[in-house]
Amino acid sequence: MTIQWFPGHMTKARRQIQEKLGLIDLVIELLDARLPLSSRNPMIDEILAGKPRMIVLNKSDLADPAVTKEWLRFFKEEGHGVLEVNASTGQGIKEIPLKAKELLKEKIDRQIAKGIRPRALRALIVGIPNVGKSTLINRLAGKNIAVTGDRPGVTKGQQWIKVGGEMELLDTPGILWPKFEDQNVGYRLAVTGAIREEILNVEDIAFFAVKYLAKYYWPQLKERFELEEQPQDFDNPDEIVAVMEAIGRKRGCIVSGGRIDLTKASGILLRELRAGKMGRYSMEAPY
Ligand code: G4P
Repeated sequence: MTIQWFPGHMTKARRQIQEKLGLIDLVIELLDARLPLSSRNPMIDEILAGKPRMIVLNKSDLADPAVTKEWLRFFKEEGHGVLEVNASTGQGIKEIPLKAKELLKEKIDRQIAKGIRPRALRALIVGIPNVGKSTLINRLAGKNIAVTGDRPGVTKGQQWIKVGGEMELLDTPGILWPKFEDQNVGYRLAVTGAIREEILNVEDIAFFAVKYLAKYYWPQLKERFELEEQPQDFDNPDEIVAVMEAIGRKRGCIVSGGRIDLTKASGILLRELRAGKMGRYSMEAPY
């Protein structure tokens, strides 16, 4: 799903999340492990207004594990609870309720000290389109998709999903917009398929991908397309285009006169990259 964001949409999305903040104890901010900053909403701190937050790096099965480790450290240093998961298989998600309890330990301890039996922690998942919010909600719900019904103080129609005995999740996630004013953010999102490529030019997206992969993941790129020379100067567009042409030649993207059809080659490269044919990769690193 790709949403065209206009200022009106942003205001509405923001209001919808802020209306729910009063109902919940913590927010689960879902980010793409391959590009945690580019898949992060630029106004998230302001929108959440100090609500306790857990950062969950999703699609960690597709990301470079060494880089994901660095991101875990980065977000921990930022002062947030952070986890890596694979919402598709459910790997890592058991940690979510445990981490939530850890995050709210002081509040829970205060309640216990006052003789109040702590109730299930209530959480809202937020994230940009395609980051895996629905997949994660379904996974966390498991067989407990039967939801607890209306309650005082709960917006009409709002449903809670039980996650074990100690956590409840709002059934509809908060949808945020990415920081698309930054062109590089747009390209990173397009490379991973988070935004539709019609918004940007397919050759430009592939150029961006090849430049990055040739620099940081050359062995994978070389092996996949049986390439020879790694570019020496990554800022020299001719060297990057030469790699794209070599990819095109390898895949038979030749047009009359022996020219390489770069549009076709770009499409092939991006499809194979997104399908995981080039192995795991991350599009940005914190350090
Ligand atoms: P959203 O609600 O945030 O918009 O995202 P949604 O759950 O619809 O997930 C978007 C896509 O990401 C889905 O694929 C989903 O299968 C995939 N996905 C979610 N979590 C993970 C994960 O941890 N690992 C991997 N590899 N993929 C994940 P899709 O393109 O809509 O469909 P399909 O490609 O699965 O057919």
